[in-house]
Amino acid sequence: MAGGEGIPGAPGNGETLAHLLARRILLDGPLSVGAFMAEALGHPRLGYYMRQDPFGVGGDFTTAPEISQMFGELVGLWCAESWARLGGPGPFHLVEVGPGRGTLMADLLRAAAVLPLFRDNATVHLVETSPVLRERQRQTLQPLLGDALRWHDRLEEVPDGPTILVANEFFDALPIRQVQKTAHGWFERLVDIDPAGSAEEPRFRFVLEAFGSSGSRLVPDALRDQPDGSVVEVSPASQAVARAIGARLAAAPGAALLIDYGYAYGPVAGDTLQAVRRHAFAPVLDAPGEADLTAHVDFAAIAAAAREGGAESFGPVEQGEWLCRLGIRERAAALSAKATPAQARDIRAALDRLIDPAQMGRLFKLIALASPGAFARETPPAGFETP
Ligand SMILES: C[S@@+](CC[C@H](N)C(=O)[O-])C[C@H]1O[C@@H](n2cnc3c(N)ncnc32)[C@H](O)[C@@H]1O
Repeated sequence: MAGGEGIPGAPGNGETLAHLLARRILLDGPLSVGAFMAEALGHPRLGYYMRQDPFGVGGDFTTAPEISQMFGELVGLWCAESWARLGGPGPFHLVEVGPGRGTLMADLLRAAAVLPLFRDNATVHLVETSPVLRERQRQTLQPLLGDALRWHDRLEEVPDGPTILVANEFFDALPIRQVQKTAHGWFERLVDIDPAGSAEEPRFRFVLEAFGSSGSRLVPDALRDQPDGSVVEVSPASQAVARAIGARLAAAPGAALLIDYGYAYGPVAGDTLQAVRRHAFAPVLDAPGEADLTAHVDFAAIAAAAREGGAESFGPVEQGEWLCRLGIRERAAALSAKATPAQARDIRAALDRLIDPAQMGRLFKLIALASPGAFARETPPAGFETP
């Protein structure tokens, strides 16, 4: 098999991402889980997000903004209020990281129109790597924003200055690395070729690194004494983005709202890597590029990285609690009052889905980040009050 002989793969001949990854493993050795995830989601030609719009009933999964306009509206009110409390610092960057179809930004802007100066002073920046979703965002947002709309591959490309930033279900899509405890210490989990597959239909399996050098470096001190067999996840990529957000907020006035699913108080041991396809779980290593891959977000690690960057952090608060504090029940009642009975039933179902602890209400959480001193601890950003 030297030089990839026997492995199909000249670009354009029906090569899948699985073929490409198998060839890379043959050349370079097993991949970290993070490298596998990064390629599966973000390979420039064959990555999951690069090829398709995965949202909605006909896609693979549905996110909160796609469930109901109420979600984006309340995020919009939070943004406008935070901006006003920062002193309404004139022109500012309204940044969304991982904006999907642009639905959250559209609902946010409509609700934030209660404060016309917010909208007038905002230049909208979308940090998005997928060309397919960029086009979808353009269709949604250009009629509202015209030229006040910019795209970037990375947060670092957004110009310096006052910032209001939102991210919903972005961090769960960033690569994680996994380490596993054995009788001989901590070893990084890697993805290797599974001999049960073939050159035509490559398959993958988890293996452990040979010497345990990265494994023991990655595991957080608090989890070192876990029992044998334990798996621990860390996301250096998420921490790097959080640190960059923290540094932005330290350099100029601003606030950020990060919404995702995961652990409030990590680090926590456990293998949370999951693949979702057509609204159902799928095996994580099968068909890379064809399924969404995500992992629980460690909010404590994100908040700590943002504080290292120089910001202050608030929360986490559970999504159901936060939405109720911001008035989602009242908003649902107002929408229902003008709705047909069938629409009112849909509004009720969406409300339940977003706030019910057994659905998204507890698993999803929010943290807020802000410039140092921008919000006193007694008067934190909206929804982050301690009861
Ligand atoms: C799960 S979707 C969430 C979309 C949207 N926020 C929502 O709630 O509907 C993740 C989004 O992040 C984008 N994305 C994933 N990895 C990215 C990266 N490394 N840099 C920028 N965007 C990324 C995807 O293309 C997609 O827009």
